[in-house]
Amino acid sequence: MRPSSRLPRESAPNALSRAVDELRRSDTRYLDLTESNPTRAGIPYPDDLLRPLSAPAALRYEPNPLGLAAAREAVAADCGRRGARIDPEHVVLSASTSEMYAWLFKLLCDAGESVLVPRPSYPLFEHLTRLEGVRAGSYRLEYHGRWEIDLDSMAAAPADTRAVLLVSPNNPTGSFASAREIDQLFRLCRDRQWALIVDEVFADYVLDAEAPVTDVAARAEVLTFSMGGASKSLGLPQVKLGWTVVGGPAADRAAALDGLELIADTFLSVGTPVQVAASVLLERGAAVRANLAAARRIASAHPACDLLPVEGGWSAVVRVPATRSEETLVLDLLSRERILVHPGYFFDFEHEAFVIVSLLVPEAEFADGLARTLGFAEAA
Ligand SMILES: Cc1ncc(COP(=O)(O)O)c(C=O)c1O
Repeated sequence: MRPSSRLPRESAPNALSRAVDELRRSDTRYLDLTESNPTRAGIPYPDDLLRPLSAPAALRYEPNPLGLAAAREAVAADCGRRGARIDPEHVVLSASTSEMYAWLFKLLCDAGESVLVPRPSYPLFEHLTRLEGVRAGSYRLEYHGRWEIDLDSMAAAPADTRAVLLVSPNNPTGSFASAREIDQLFRLCRDRQWALIVDEVFADYVLDAEAPVTDVAARAEVLTFSMGGASKSLGLPQVKLGWTVVGGPAADRAAALDGLELIADTFLSVGTPVQVAASVLLERGAAVRANLAAARRIASAHPACDLLPVEGGWSAVVRVPATRSEETLVLDLLSRERILVHPGYFFDFEHEAFVIVSLLVPEAEFADGLARTLGFAEAA
């Protein structure tokens, strides 16, 4: 078979994944400070949590491309927890936010057109765009005590750009876009006729941020899509439910909802049981605060390392002495201390040296692993 050019060409695993594979093959234990699967993080899920999926109503199949009314109402009501007023008619369900990215690229872009993605950020954008035949241009987030959007870096966007992607809070920097930045983005999007796609999957995990802006679509001045999902908000990636609120000028919003209805109707990918259960499931969440407190305590004992502020989300970024390359550091840490962390370059950080750890790791392991990681990074 000749694979299409939508698939990435190179497939050789990087040095860190090869080292991890080797440890697994030889059954060597290591401490994984990158664990971001909530179902492996020791969260005490109640045994009956998924019982609502077997409600009798789930035995009926009544496909509705944008989602069952009760589930869309539950999502809209849940946005009210953060103070947003959402019309359920403006909510679209998908199996995940990753799937929604694909739908939005189908909606907004012809093949070969571009979207702008933040750097550093979520590493899957390269695949999500490429698989849809869309190009990913990038704009920069710069760290000046907090992560700020470098709007000037958007000026060079190609003329065929159709949308700008904002991840707020961002993965892995944890930074929320500020109200001022969002207003600036609205202006830029209006001038350039770009749509705004806001990935708010971590919006429920507010840590250091004081007045985080969430539910951007609810106050949008341009066509805007605010995305959330069960995998992060509920710590339940396996139930496969994502949601998107469409906001902005009424005519654009109506056209976008029509287009999404056709796309969603082509796949009808969201299961009925999870939609029936949505209102019950939306009452729960996961906890990451204890690890952030431990990270602060540990970092203060390692003055050469700097734990950057974590405005929200599930990960923490630590600046470590750049006495060796990030790659050497993470490989040595794995082979000598048996601790796995992610290097900043996995997320396109502009310079070295950063390590990224997941705040979902069980508390005692997290504290032990991070203390040893920072000690190791300092000792170089
Ligand atoms: C910023 C961000 N957006 C989206 C996703 C994907 O979430 P989903 O499970 O809804 O596809 C992730 C998963 O890690 C993420 O970090």
